[in-house]
Parts: sequence; structure tokens; C-alpha cells
Amino acid sequence: MTAEPGRDTGADGQDAHRVAAEALDAVRAAADAAQLEAVRALYLGRGDGRLTVFRRGLGKLADADARRALGQTVNTLTERVSDAIDERRAELEVAARAQQDATEALDLTWPPRPLRRGRLNPVTLAAREIRRIFGQIGYIAVAGPEVEYDRYNFTLVNQPPGHPARDAHDTFYVDDSRLLRTHTSPVQIRSMLVRGAPQRVIVPGKAYRRDYDASHLPMFHQVEGLCIDEGIAVSDLKGTLEFFVRSFFAADARVRWRPHNFPFTEPSLELELACVSCDGSGCTLCKHSGWLELLGCGMVHPAVLRNGGIDPERYSGFAFGMGIERAAMLAYDISDMRLLYENDVRFLRPVS
Ligand code: DAH
Repeated sequence: MTAEPGRDTGADGQDAHRVAAEALDAVRAAADAAQLEAVRALYLGRGDGRLTVFRRGLGKLADADARRALGQTVNTLTERVSDAIDERRAELEVAARAQQDATEALDLTWPPRPLRRGRLNPVTLAAREIRRIFGQIGYIAVAGPEVEYDRYNFTLVNQPPGHPARDAHDTFYVDDSRLLRTHTSPVQIRSMLVRGAPQRVIVPGKAYRRDYDASHLPMFHQVEGLCIDEGIAVSDLKGTLEFFVRSFFAADARVRWRPHNFPFTEPSLELELACVSCDGSGCTLCKHSGWLELLGCGMVHPAVLRNGGIDPERYSGFAFGMGIERAAMLAYDISDMRLLYENDVRFLRPVS
């Protein structure tokens, strides 16, 4: 009794029992689901499984009792092997899960990853600080549109069509009558028309010019200031802006005033700050002059007051305009304006 039990050998129940015993050993020895499946195919496979083939031999048995007896034996053995396979499969699954639990378990004693916090851009920080400082002396912050009428951006602040100062602003035009505002000064007119006199406002916001290098960006921020009341004089302008400079830069910051020319102010001044790097002795930042231009300002031109619906006989005022990027760079010691907009978190981290 060798080779293929049940085929040529006149298979009997004994052979079937022997094959089944082998099958049960193989089931117990299967180490994982794949081996177990191979054992199942080997013994119970449809057609030629080692146990299955005993059924084929049944037809050859002439004796009906012997046929029934062998049939029952094969059925019972098949069932036993099949049950053993199911049991073994369940056992292997439990073991696999235990193994997985052991290797993938969460270790709750591990320290957490450090929390990464966002930081504000220096321009935002500076704008907030500017609002806070002017807020202390009664200024409210207001806004105006970035897509502005040519009329508000230029004409009503004393730069009618053909005025040479218009050329100094490399303007992005939207159509014949509208543009991206080149400064925050048009909001002076809007604020006068809305609030009348007296009023004290600052206008932090974006402005646009066709410019791009280490100290000019096509989009930048300015803050406009406007103070209108009866009897406002140049001394109010100076006192206000010196207060601002000492609050924003340093309590002992020094300034000087130089005559200038803007179409919308008369007289016009420029505020210069003693160099934040060399304190006036001369360095590359101040181009060896000892001073840094910080902002333009002046007494609001009577024609501009009139364009804003305010009587220049009764009221006077001062205005100023400052680049926020520049103020932030000087206050926080940033050398290249483009750094402000490159979104490099390593640059943002040390500030604030
Ligand atoms: N609008 C000017 C500019 O963008 C800045 C400026 C200067 C605004 C003097 C003022 C001012 O209100 O009085 O260059």
C-alpha cells in the first residue's frame, strides 16, 4: 500500500484513517495561514486532495455495505480534518494579534513632540504696534479701498492730470478711471468726506507700485495719519510724531526735521531718525549720513481740506505717510525687504 491510496490499491478505511492522521499532524504543524491553506488544499482539495480521492474509489467497490461504510468513514474523516483546520486557523489568528499587540503597542510614557506655534510677520507686528501707539493718543484706525479712483489717488490730493508728481508713482491702472492705489493718501479725502472735522485717524493698509528690488516691492504697506481740528499747528505735528518715534523705536530715539515737498501738504517736512545702527556716527545702513529717512508729513494743503469738504478758514490739520516695511526693518534690524515676504519660518522665529 503505497503511492495513491484509494485509486488502484482497492482503498479501504484503514488507508483513509492513515491519511487523515497525517493530515491532522500537518494541520497542527502549520505555522501560519498560508501553510494551513496549503495543507487544506493537499488533503481536502477538490478532485485530487489526498483524502478526497478516497471517494473515487467508492464506485469500484462491488459490495454495497463496504461502499457505504467507506463513504461514511471518508465523510467523518473529512469533517474531522476540516474542523481541525478551522480550529488551527482561529489559534493562529489569536497568536498573530497577540504578536501585533506586543510590537505595535502605544507607549504612553513617550514625551510629546514639541508644539510648533505660528508667528506674526514683522509687518503685522509693526502695524499692530503703530495702531496701539496712536490709539493711546486718540487716533482711530480706518481703511479705504485698494482699487481706487484716479481722482481720489491723485486729483483730489492736489495732483491733477498732467501733474509731474504723478510720474513718480509707477501706477498699476485697472482702467481709465481706476488704479491700484499708489499710497494711502486717498483715504485722507474719504475720511474727511465721511467724518468731517475734527478728526484723528490713521490708515494702515496696502499700496501698489510697479517696482521690485531689495528695497521696493510691488505691494507694500503704508500708514497714513490725519489730524484735523481748529488751531492745529506744526508744533502738534512734531510733538505727535516725536511721541510716536520714541514709543516705536526707543525712548531716547533722536529725530531731525528737513524741509521737503509734497503736493498735498504745505509746508512739507521729512522726519529723519538718527541711525538705529550707528546712532548718527555713520555706517552703511545710513550711507554714512548718520540719519535715516522715515516718513513724509506736513500741514494739510487748504485745497485738500476743501476737496474733503472741510473749511480751511476754520480748520487746519497735519498729515503723514510712512512705509511700514521700512519701519519694521529699522525696528527689528532686517536688512532685505524681500525677507519679509519669503515665508521662511526660520526668519519669522526670532522676531516677537
Ligand atoms: N503719500 C506719500 C507717499 O506715498 C507719503 C506722504 C507724505 C503722505 C506726506 C502724507 C504726507 O500724508 O503728508 O510717498
